[in-house]
Amino acid sequence: MITLNEHYFKLQASYLFSDIAARVTSFQKENPEIDVIKLGIGDVTKGLTPTSIAAFHKAVDEMADDATFRGYGPEQGYEFLREAIAVNDFQSRGADISSDEIFVSDGAKCDTGNFQELFTSDITIAIPDPVYPVYLDTNVMAGRTGEFADGRYRGVVYLESTRENNFVPDLPEDKVDLIYLCFPNNPTGSTISKTELKNWVDYARDHKALILFDAAYESFIRDDSLPKTIYEVEGAREVAVEFRSFSKNAGFTGTRCAYTVVPKECRAYDGKGNIQHIHSLWHRRHCTKFNGVSYPVQRAAEATYSEEGKKETRALVDYYMRNADAVCDTFRSLNYEFAGGENSPYIWIDGKRDSWEFFDMLLRETGVVCTPGGGFGKCGNQYIRISAFNSYENVQTAMTRLTEKLK
Ligand code: MLT
Repeated sequence: MITLNEHYFKLQASYLFSDIAARVTSFQKENPEIDVIKLGIGDVTKGLTPTSIAAFHKAVDEMADDATFRGYGPEQGYEFLREAIAVNDFQSRGADISSDEIFVSDGAKCDTGNFQELFTSDITIAIPDPVYPVYLDTNVMAGRTGEFADGRYRGVVYLESTRENNFVPDLPEDKVDLIYLCFPNNPTGSTISKTELKNWVDYARDHKALILFDAAYESFIRDDSLPKTIYEVEGAREVAVEFRSFSKNAGFTGTRCAYTVVPKECRAYDGKGNIQHIHSLWHRRHCTKFNGVSYPVQRAAEATYSEEGKKETRALVDYYMRNADAVCDTFRSLNYEFAGGENSPYIWIDGKRDSWEFFDMLLRETGVVCTPGGGFGKCGNQYIRISAFNSYENVQTAMTRLTEKLK
């Protein structure tokens, strides 16, 4: 008899963003006359930059010629891209990361979801609430939680992020083993200072824990005093893995390219309590389950680090941040309390009512799609998230409609 992984039955019916997409599609079918504006899922709308696309085209042409064709590449990514990443994203910030500590992949979603595979099912996990749902769902699938009751899975340590703590969770009171952190945060848009991040690094060092640090939105940080990578914090190399993506800063959501940093000193423990290095295990896992990102995509990603590429990528980020400013201005003038939007493309708005009801009302009455905060965790139940990823014109129209409705 072929039996199923029982833990899948504990999951909530569908993945948050698929659920929202289905609701929006059915609304559009029933109301074809309404011009729906999507500020829900954080999917970019602007095309790849000229420098990236030129490198992409050139690499595609190379693939058509036997002399320059490339078959399987190194699973962990071509050296040209790994070196560009190490130099530009880390060494330039004084973070001591080398190219062989970078693993190029097709998405931070997959990597943040897959990384937990390295650990036993009885470790204690700490997950922010609210946060990107992939961390929790993948641990549910792996059997690391109990049943879902009253908005929470049993056996998980939830790190509550509320207005009271400025959406930066406090250190857990109980000992935890695997800690997920995401800054700039999805969905709250909050950021973490270097001092606060150091507290987490120290906690992990003191408790033999590991931090999985999702920095997919680091390029939206405008305040230069904030850390852009966890490796700016002393001692992080032993206790932190970092995830990054080209999706949001360079428009790669449909092109797919990301990377994970696993420093060589990064450690966990075997069943006897002996230190083991995670780098070789993740390398083993990556080579076994993944055949690398396609060559043209890696060339397109590499091009984002050229002088011209950097300027263009910065302009893309600035474009979306102008939208974020417009969303903040609107909700400020409507007297709503909100977080984010300053160093993040997400604005986290206190709707002071059930988030799914608010979502439904906005969709029905304004045609604007947001993301209900409850989908990110219990602490999000009265919030909605608005994403700055759309055209400036659409964001303007959406803000006019919201002002009309909510004033
Ligand atoms: C989001 O809207 O939270 C993200 O776009 C989802 C993702 O990056 O997978």
